[in-house]
Amino acid sequence: MAQLYLAPMEEVTGYLFRQTLQSAFGGVDTYFTPFLSPVTGCAFKTRQGRELDPSHNAGMNTVPQVLTNDADAAVTMFQLLADLGYREVNLNFGCPSGTVVKKGRGSGFLRDPEGMERFFDRLFSHELPMPVSVKTRLGYADAQAEWPRILEIYNRYPITELIVHARVREDWYGGKPDMDAFAYAYENTKLPLCYNGDITSAEGCAKILERFPDLKAVMIGRGAVANPGIFREIATGEVMTDAELRAFHDALYRAYVGLWGVKDTLFKMKEVWGYLGDRYPDAERAKKHIRKCRSEAEYLVAAAELLGK
Ligand SMILES: Cc1cc2nc3c(=O)[nH]c(=O)nc-3n(C[C@H](O)[C@H](O)[C@H](O)COP(=O)(O)O)c2cc1C
Repeated sequence: MAQLYLAPMEEVTGYLFRQTLQSAFGGVDTYFTPFLSPVTGCAFKTRQGRELDPSHNAGMNTVPQVLTNDADAAVTMFQLLADLGYREVNLNFGCPSGTVVKKGRGSGFLRDPEGMERFFDRLFSHELPMPVSVKTRLGYADAQAEWPRILEIYNRYPITELIVHARVREDWYGGKPDMDAFAYAYENTKLPLCYNGDITSAEGCAKILERFPDLKAVMIGRGAVANPGIFREIATGEVMTDAELRAFHDALYRAYVGLWGVKDTLFKMKEVWGYLGDRYPDAERAKKHIRKCRSEAEYLVAAAELLGK
C-alpha cells in the first residue's frame, strides 16, 4: 500500500490542524508543514518556532517544508531543523503566489532550469544533515514543453522523493491535473514518486493507485480539509461519521480559540469551511452565515446548522 501524506496548506494545515486530525482519525503516514522561508539574523520567527516545536509534533511523522532559491540559506535552515530533531526536509518548487514567483521561488524557480541546476549543485556539494525531498509542479506555463527538462534535472540529484502536484503554475488550483504529464514522470524517473492533486475520496485514491501501482505515496490537501477522515478511510475502510466530524470541528475550534482568540479563530474557521463547505452543496444559506458571521455566537449557530447537534 502506498503511503498517505497530508499536503502542506499555508494558513490551514498548521500544527493545531495536524494534531486534531491525528487524534481524531489518524491514517496519515507523514504530515508536511506549510512552507517556511529561511530568516536571516535569527533562528526562527515566533510562528515558525511554534510550527516546529517538537512537542507540537509529538507522535506524528512531520516533515518541515522549506521555500527558498538560496542553497546556502537552505543548508543553514536544514541544520537548525536537524538540531530540533527533524529527520527529513522538503523543498517547495510549487507555490504559485505572485510575490513568491516574482522572487524566483516556488513555481517561479521552474522558469529557470539553469538556476535550479546551480541551486542543486551547490546544495548537494554540502554534507547535508538529512535527506531532502522535493514537491514540485510540472512547470510554469506549459507542461509539455517544460516538464521533461525539469524532471531530467531532478533525476540527476540525490533527492529522496519527488512529490508531483500535477499542474503548472499558471493553472493555480483550477482545471484538471495533467495525468499524461504525471504518467511521463512515472515512466521516466527512478526517484520514489508521490502523486498529488484533486484526490477527494477513497475511490479517487484507488483509481490513482490502479493506474500507478508503484507509487511510493499519495498526498491529499483540500480533500482532507473537506474530509479529515479520508486517510483513515483509505487505510482501513472506516468512513467518518457525522458525529466524528462534529467532534473534530469542535476540537479544532477550541484549539484555535486557545491559541488565537475568537477573532482570528473565526477567520481561520472560515478558511476551513471554504473546503469543508463542499460537503453541504445544498446549504448555501448556512454557509453564507458562516462567511458573514462576526461573533462566536453567530458562528456556533451557523456551524451547528451545518454539522447538526
Ligand atoms: C490554501 C492553500 C495553501 C497551500 N499551501 C502550500 C504550501 O505551503 N506548500 C506547498 O507545497 N503547497 C501548498 N499548497 C498546495 C497543496 O499542498 C497541494 O499541492 C494542492 O492543493 C493540490 O493538492 P489537493 O488537490 O489535494 O489539495 C497549498 C494549497 C492551498 C489551496
